[in-house]
Amino acid sequence: MKRIVILISGRGSNMQAICEQDLPGGAVVAVIANRPDAAGLAWAAERGIDARVVDHKAYPDRASFDVALAEVIDGYAPDLVVLAGFMRILGAEFTRRYEGRMLNVHPSLLPAFTGLSTHQRAIDAGCRVAGCTVHFVTAELDHGPIVAQGAVPVLEGDTAASLAERVLAVEHRLYPAAVRDFVAGRLTLADGRVHRVATANAGAQLLSPAEA
Ligand code: GAR
Repeated sequence: MKRIVILISGRGSNMQAICEQDLPGGAVVAVIANRPDAAGLAWAAERGIDARVVDHKAYPDRASFDVALAEVIDGYAPDLVVLAGFMRILGAEFTRRYEGRMLNVHPSLLPAFTGLSTHQRAIDAGCRVAGCTVHFVTAELDHGPIVAQGAVPVLEGDTAASLAERVLAVEHRLYPAAVRDFVAGRLTLADGRVHRVATANAGAQLLSPAEA
């Protein structure tokens, strides 16, 4: 059984989508938040999943927070660490520790719009498409080998909120599928690129407004 630890900071809708899917050969063994008020914690606890807090405010600097977080994570001996709306920057030592076994979802079509306010920035730039990216985590923020991307149209009159909602629906499809493929051993990394076996089209989705 592949053991999965999910890190969240807030609502945790991606975490829910991952937990609710059928996951042969895998189990979510813990959900860890860096904020005690992260709404997703209660959802996980109600389902009997270990819900833990490592409050970043309790640590004097990033490095000591990273050490404390890694200690809790390693207590679960995970095969995969899943960042699902986890809004803390993680240091190089931390990312190296989980190299090749830590995934993130980012609400843009990387390498465009790393960082925050991705939807507003896509609208301001006049983008006609926006989307999300599932990728392996490396030391560089919002970089790392791409596992899957989904694109949606940017519509006339879109706000950051309406675009975020459209993109989030795609995240909820792509991220669980990527986790399932990792667990099934269908994701491999070679020369910094992801190879996804036997699911030829799983890595890309183009959605029309009606579908999105
Ligand atoms: C998601 O849209 C995710 O892509 C984004 O935060 C949201 C979390 O929602 N992540 C980032 O911006 C990370 N850089 P959720 O808590 O409902 O899954």
